[in-house]
Amino acid sequence: MKRITVDLGARSYPIYIAAGCLNQIGDIVSSHQLERKIALITDENVGPLYSDAVEAALKASGFQVSVYVLPAGEASKSLETADKLYEYLIRDRFDRKSTIISLGGGVIGDVGGFIAATFMRGIRFVQIPTTLLAQTDSSVGGKVGINHRFGKNLIGAFYQPCFVLIDPQVLETLPLRERRAGMAEVVKYGLIADETFFDFLAGHLEDVIQLAPSGDVEGVIETCCSIKARVVQQDEREGGLRQILNFGHTAGHALEALTNFEFYRHGEAVAMGMRCMTWLSWQSDFISEADFSRIDALLQRFPQPSPQPVFESNEILEKIYSDKKVFDGKLNVVLLSKIGEALVKKNLDPKAMLAALEWMNRSSDEIKQYYR
Ligand code: NAD
Ligand code: GLY
Repeated sequence: MKRITVDLGARSYPIYIAAGCLNQIGDIVSSHQLERKIALITDENVGPLYSDAVEAALKASGFQVSVYVLPAGEASKSLETADKLYEYLIRDRFDRKSTIISLGGGVIGDVGGFIAATFMRGIRFVQIPTTLLAQTDSSVGGKVGINHRFGKNLIGAFYQPCFVLIDPQVLETLPLRERRAGMAEVVKYGLIADETFFDFLAGHLEDVIQLAPSGDVEGVIETCCSIKARVVQQDEREGGLRQILNFGHTAGHALEALTNFEFYRHGEAVAMGMRCMTWLSWQSDFISEADFSRIDALLQRFPQPSPQPVFESNEILEKIYSDKKVFDGKLNVVLLSKIGEALVKKNLDPKAMLAALEWMNRSSDEIKQYYR
């Protein structure tokens, strides 16, 4: 079993990665000296596939398990869901020594972690991520939260798990669109932190998505988790360096928000956002035209859902300025200084952002016409 440590002093924890490791969960929870009572939170897609195996392994190791199944999808990251979960935990006599295990994608990880962070002022938390996005990004680093009707992820905390258990085999049941979308975050890690990894992904994009042996999805997950651990160790609460993990998220998040978080998968929108910021990195003379072309060729391979809605660049810019990442009316964005290295550009001129959005709109029209 591979093991990566997220080194955060008293809040340090391991990420375990191995094909088929799901049924070792009982032994691992025991080795972390967690108490007997466990709430297993999952969703209605993942539950029927994997919760019996997890529950059985935990029970075989002497744990008492209650399973809570939420509707699948973003709507479960809500105050209403949180309220229901608090009610069940209180009704079922969970206490300060109990543990919550999230078994699912980023939605279940975020909402389960939020409940763990807040119930009885914080109880133990374990992540078992089951999407490519969650295994390579959202389960690591301790961002947990729910949405508010005024915006996404507006309520939350930094709350690190006791450990993360990643079984790449569960990706076999993950729909192809979800795997492709998750792959955008994977490419992000190559772009911001590791050129060799980027080269590997450029040559093996489809192999990873199809879970072919040559795609080495386990190695890919390990690389992403190692990079994320390194970044989070240096800047747990996003005071500076951690912002590089938001590469492509400025425009991406605006596109998601303009479509009520229902049209794009997160990674699809991030792929568009990364194209936009790669173009701006080239226009700002941080990267060469050759590097821009290499990166853009890879990002164009991320299919977008259709028919794609059209938003004026001004409309997207306005949405960007309403995001929680804009402080004091100042827009900080992540650009590439080369393939494998990112920088935070503070107080970007809105005109530069607008030009990048205009380019993005123009160029996605061209791509559509090319494929027509
Ligand atoms: P998701 O949790 O909605 O999962 C996507 C779909 O796949 C769901 O329908 C789910 O039921 C299904 N699914 C999950 N695993 C499966 C499996 N193994 N087999 C079959 N079906 C499976 O979406 P996601 O893309 O994993 O996560 C998106 C969420 O993550 C967003 O809410 C986003 O805000 C959050 N996020 C959080 C962080 C963070 O650092 N905390 C980072 C990035 C994204
Ligand atoms: N996904 C961005 C972060 O964890 O900071």
